Amino acid sequence: DEWTTELRYRPYRDWPAKYLVNLRNQVQASPWRLHYHIQPTTGLLNDPNGFSFFNGRWQLFYQAYPFGPVHGLKSWVRMSSTDLIHWHNDGEALIPDTPYDAQGAFSGSALPMDDKLFLMYTGNVRDHEWHRHSYQVGAWLDTAGKVTKLPEPLISTPPTGFTNEFRDPQITRTTEGGYRVLIGGQSDQKQGFPLIYEGPSIDTLRFKGILHTGRDAGYGFMVECPNLVSVDGHQAFIFCPQGLNQGIAAYQNIFPNMVITADDVNWDTRTLINPTTPVNLDEGFDVYASQAFVAPDGRTLLNSWIGLPGADAPDTKDGWANCLSLVKELHYRDGQLYQYPVAETKSLRGEARPLTIAGNDETFIGTGDHYELALHSDSQVPVTLTIAGVKVTIDQTSGTVIVDRSHAGVPFAEKYGTTRRFSLPAGQPVLLNAFVDTSVMELYFNHGQKVCTVRFFPKTPADLLRIETSAPNAVHATLYPLTA
Ligand code: FRU
Repeated sequence: DEWTTELRYRPYRDWPAKYLVNLRNQVQASPWRLHYHIQPTTGLLNDPNGFSFFNGRWQLFYQAYPFGPVHGLKSWVRMSSTDLIHWHNDGEALIPDTPYDAQGAFSGSALPMDDKLFLMYTGNVRDHEWHRHSYQVGAWLDTAGKVTKLPEPLISTPPTGFTNEFRDPQITRTTEGGYRVLIGGQSDQKQGFPLIYEGPSIDTLRFKGILHTGRDAGYGFMVECPNLVSVDGHQAFIFCPQGLNQGIAAYQNIFPNMVITADDVNWDTRTLINPTTPVNLDEGFDVYASQAFVAPDGRTLLNSWIGLPGADAPDTKDGWANCLSLVKELHYRDGQLYQYPVAETKSLRGEARPLTIAGNDETFIGTGDHYELALHSDSQVPVTLTIAGVKVTIDQTSGTVIVDRSHAGVPFAEKYGTTRRFSLPAGQPVLLNAFVDTSVMELYFNHGQKVCTVRFFPKTPADLLRIETSAPNAVHATLYPLTA
């Protein structure tokens, strides 16, 4: 591997400027670049960070390693927007350059305080033996875009009984006007837990205990990116358990991004009330490290990393890796979490094109490579769509959907399966909104009752939609070109 540890952790200032210029040219020539998703200018993107509203704009940062499509020395890149759709790249926001974040400005969150945005994140530090130390650190972003790091960590060590796998703070306000921070942790017995800190101010945060989410034996060996948000008067605990036993919750991705919903949370006992068992947040192949927050306009918004730890997707050969999802609005309906792209996403739509579905078994439609397909099916027999090479079979009678990416181009991550199967209410009509963007698609069923995100790497531009049905009159579809 040409990406030695030494190279991956080379300080940012030691890279020649010319290097990034060349890499950018290589990236821009990639056939898999996206039209309306956030993607890295160069190198690797991972978790969404600091999702917030500040200074009249939406703020959405992401974990970045700009020098190559690998996990190296991480920083935060800032994106901002007035509509959650068109994002402006505001450049590097947090560079790993202090003794408390020297080997990476890891994931974290943001909270507006007075006229500044407070960023709380994990400083990743490796000592001479390459042992990890995790500091929970802070920084201020002012309205001019200037970032000032706090000189000392807010939390310098994990609590007693927990290891240095200790990261990804989600900071929120308590109803008493203080602060609460949820942090991913690992016990000395190597079990994953969400940990809670509270304090009347950011520099008086104290460990209170674990968040009881229905399973006090913990989740796998580590919990990454824990988020607790209220959604329509309920609670959603969104987290990434690593190494979770498949008997506790079924999943196929290397590590799942899961959600537990609950009626409420009791902060005296730090316990979710009537929690569900964990379920996959997304039924697809690629969602991880999602971050949610309650926006000032009352909406609960979510953004996901489309990429997984350890995945080596084909885009890496072009000098970049991964992207972020569309911004999703969360709702709680009929005991379930719904996720759907924010209403603003409709502003991307061009003129609607109703599709004629032929009275035979197959219809082929030229689509271009970035668009939204809205399809309504009330068919008693299965309908098969091949969207940009990804085969989606909907069997309304049994309420089963199968998504197969095995013939969608350059294969990758096959070890974790090339199909996903999930359920919708049996015997009910199915609505699908598919947001397709060159090498990623987000499939939303029944207004977001189920979501299935699929990364794929076509060998030639994938601009064909195929619809196979023996009941053409029961299927209606409209295509919208999407232009950012
Ligand atoms: C999740 C994660 C976080 C960490 C960050 C580092 O993908 O491993 O736990 O803070 O990525 O980039």
